[in-house]
Amino acid sequence: MAEIKFVVYENQKSKNIAEEIALKTSCVSITYEEFKKTDDKGEFYFFADDKNFEIRFSNINSKAVSVDFSGGKISHRIKTSTVKNPLAKAVGLKGRMEKKPFIVDATAGLGTDSFLLYCLGARVAGFERNPFLFYLLEKGLKNYFKANENHNDLLFINSDSFNLFQKLMENNITQRPDVIYLDPMYPLENKKKAKPKKELEVLRKIIGRDNDSHFLFNEIASFKNLRIVVKRPIHSPLISDLIKPSHKIESKLVRYDVYLV
Ligand SMILES: C[S@@+](CC[C@H](N)C(=O)[O-])C[C@H]1O[C@@H](n2cnc3c(N)ncnc32)[C@H](O)[C@@H]1O
Repeated sequence: MAEIKFVVYENQKSKNIAEEIALKTSCVSITYEEFKKTDDKGEFYFFADDKNFEIRFSNINSKAVSVDFSGGKISHRIKTSTVKNPLAKAVGLKGRMEKKPFIVDATAGLGTDSFLLYCLGARVAGFERNPFLFYLLEKGLKNYFKANENHNDLLFINSDSFNLFQKLMENNITQRPDVIYLDPMYPLENKKKAKPKKELEVLRKIIGRDNDSHFLFNEIASFKNLRIVVKRPIHSPLISDLIKPSHKIESKLVRYDVYLV
């Protein structure tokens, strides 16, 4: 896995936050001038300026991944998605809902699915255990909602999602989730699939594969009265041998396994 060693800040305005991120991630915070002179840069570095955070490629100094909820790609996905979207169907979103369903995204990643579900009318809490990705998510959220706007219906928590119900309480979330959504990094080599998207390739290098996802699923499936949705590559095996899905929703490349427990 590619280790990120440096948090590089642009100017004095971003120095404090860069130091905070470096402390939380056991990195060193330095200016770009200092970084350029460093020998052992590693494949990626975390870049912080007052407007945005990015994970960047060290060798070409260009963006590898960031979170921009207002950006072209994601806003296109939002504009063209309705409750007929396979993910929306899998989590059970409807056109008219008396009450907003509460969805916990137990594997938030870059927040794309969380954001889509929020835009389609759900209340969403996303768990992301990787601190670099969490900082990207938080900055993306702050930029999207601007300074003071209330955004209780979409939030991210920097934590592992094992012991999920306890973690929700610890974060003062008392509402019981209606749905728990899992989209872990697929642990196996998927021979049939086309080349992964650039973002996914970068995530694989930074995070690796989520080899513990079946444990997470088994733990969550031990709770009752829950809808659990697991996203898998289309022809891949189920996440766990212990329990069969109630139904599946398939699109061209992915499959959503829906478990009603
Ligand atoms: C494939 S990515 C998710 C992509 C996401 N659905 C999106 O739309 O951007 C999987 C993410 O889940 C996170 N993850 C895996 N297991 C986790 C766990 N037990 N707790 C919290 N985060 C986890 C990984 O760190 C990774 O960022």
